[in-house]
Amino acid sequence: MQDLFSVKDKVVHVSGGSRGIGRAIADGFVQAGATVVISSRDEAALQSTGLAYEVCDVTDAAQVDRCASNIVERFGRIDVLFNVAGINFRHAAETFPADKLQAILDVNVKGNYLMARSCGFHMVAQQKGKIINIASLHTLQSLAGVSAYGMSKGAIGSMTRALAVEWASQNVQVNAIAPGFIVTDLNRKLWDDPTMRGWVEDRTPAHRLGQPSDLVGLSIFLASGASDFITGQVIAADGGFTSGSTWPLVVPR
Ligand code: NAI
Repeated sequence: MQDLFSVKDKVVHVSGGSRGIGRAIADGFVQAGATVVISSRDEAALQSTGLAYEVCDVTDAAQVDRCASNIVERFGRIDVLFNVAGINFRHAAETFPADKLQAILDVNVKGNYLMARSCGFHMVAQQKGKIINIASLHTLQSLAGVSAYGMSKGAIGSMTRALAVEWASQNVQVNAIAPGFIVTDLNRKLWDDPTMRGWVEDRTPAHRLGQPSDLVGLSIFLASGASDFITGQVIAADGGFTSGSTWPLVVPR
C-alpha cells in the first residue's frame, strides 16, 4: 500500500521552485526520496537552496526547451513536472496597464504552456509522466481587482484539461492544484493588513490562511501511481473557500 503513494527516485522538476509554493513542494519531494530539480530565472536564489537546478525563464521557448533537455541528459528522464512559475499584479480592470497584462499572460499562460510542452515532449517519448499545474481559486471563481491574473489562471484550467485529453493515451496525466490563500512573497504584504487577513479568516471555513506546506500532500498524491486514473482535474486546496462559507446562523448542537 505504501508503494502506491511512493515518489521515491522519481525525477521531479519544479519550475518556479526557488521560493514560496514551489520551494515547499521541492522540499517535500526531497524528504520523500525523489530526485528534485528546480528552475527559475535567478541563479543566486537557485544556488542558495542547495538543490539541483536549471536557470530558465519560462517566457523564452528556447530556454524552456534547453531546460527540459538538460534534465533528461543529467537524470535520464522527467517523471513529474510542477508548473509553479507565476506572477500577479492587482489593478482596476478599466485602467489595467497593458504592459502588466502582457507580463502576466507571458509568464502564467505562455510560460506554463511552453514548460508543459517541452517536458511533455519527453514524457510522451517515455510513455509515462505527470504534469501538475498550479492553478488558483481564480480558476474556479473571481475576486475584484485581479482580472488579468484571474483570466490567466482560468487558462491554466483549460490547459490542464486540453493536455490531459491529448496525452491520456500516452500515459501522461495532467492535473492542477488550485491553492487558496497561501502566505508567500507574492502576497505577504497583503496579509499583513488586518482587514484583509480578517476577511480571509472569516470567509474560509477552516478560518485560517494556508501555508505552502499545506500543498505538499496533494502534490505527492498527484505525482504518485495512486492518481494514475485521475487526469484533467483541478483540485482545490483552500480550506474550503471555494466550497462555501460559514454564516452567523446559530443551530442546536
Ligand atoms: P512566489 O512569487 O513566491 O514564487 C513564484 C516563483 O515563480 C518564483 O520561484 C519565481 O522566481 C518564479 N518565476 C516568476 N517568473 C518567472 C519566469 N519568467 N520564469 C521562471 N520562473 C519565474 O509566489 P508563490 O505564491 O509561491 O506562487 C507560486 C504559484 O502559485 C504561482 O503560479 C501563483 O500564481 C500560484 N498561486 C499562489 C497562491 C498564493 O496564495 N500564494 C494562491 C494560488 C496560486
